[in-house]
Amino acid sequence: MSSGPTPLRLFCATSNPGKAREFALAAGEGIVIQPLPDFGAIPPCVEDGATFAENALIKARHYGAHAAGLLFADDSGLEVEALGGAPGVYSARFSGPGATDASNNRLLLEKLRGVEDRRARFVCAIAVVDNGQPAGVFSGSVEGVILDEPLGAGGFGYDPLFYYAPFGCTFGEVEGERKFAVSHRGQALRAMLRALLPKPDSDPLPSGRPGLGRRLQLAGRLPVAEKTQNDNEPQMNADKST
Ligand code: IMP
Repeated sequence: MSSGPTPLRLFCATSNPGKAREFALAAGEGIVIQPLPDFGAIPPCVEDGATFAENALIKARHYGAHAAGLLFADDSGLEVEALGGAPGVYSARFSGPGATDASNNRLLLEKLRGVEDRRARFVCAIAVVDNGQPAGVFSGSVEGVILDEPLGAGGFGYDPLFYYAPFGCTFGEVEGERKFAVSHRGQALRAMLRALLPKPDSDPLPSGRPGLGRRLQLAGRLPVAEKTQNDNEPQMNADKST
């Protein structure tokens, strides 16, 4: 006997445990997010895009070739106003080969020593492919300021340096759920899910796969759904993240 609608199943292509933990927060009733099996055995791709959206799409296409159905990949990073948007798409490797979160944070603090303008934003683009075919790109961003010393042991990457005024603390000091509710990654992921999940009044296709019709509407164009901080319905814009 059938036990309700088929859940939306998505493979997630990431090797970053911090990201994987956050993506898992989006799973729930009707949504199954699972790591791509054998992710580590697939040779990595060259992330040579000029924007987060381009890199997300490069990764999604690359790993999507190894997965049936829906797969998403993200590219994200920190843009610092006083550094002209750096480290941007180079956030993970800011301090060079062998970079770690600690070495990246040290370099960021060095570069901002004595700098008054500490404004920064996290940006995330998520690309989704359906059986290897690009189906959409969704993005989000969140504004903060860079402190002059790390605070908090939570999160990952630049979180302990990223002070988020509405919370009155850094992203390194908050629970994962709280960060995800406002973060660049949370915004982009929720935008993707809104586009993929069936609308309450939509007819399931004869295949019985709810939402497939909606997915097929997405296929054939490569929108970048630019998200605002309040999670409004996405507009289809060019990527402004870099
Ligand atoms: P990617 O894996 O190429 O997308 O690189 C992402 C990098 O950007 C991470 O390694 C972090 O350095 C930084 N980053 C992205 N999102 C976050 C976040 O939510 N918190 C802290 N750092 C982040």
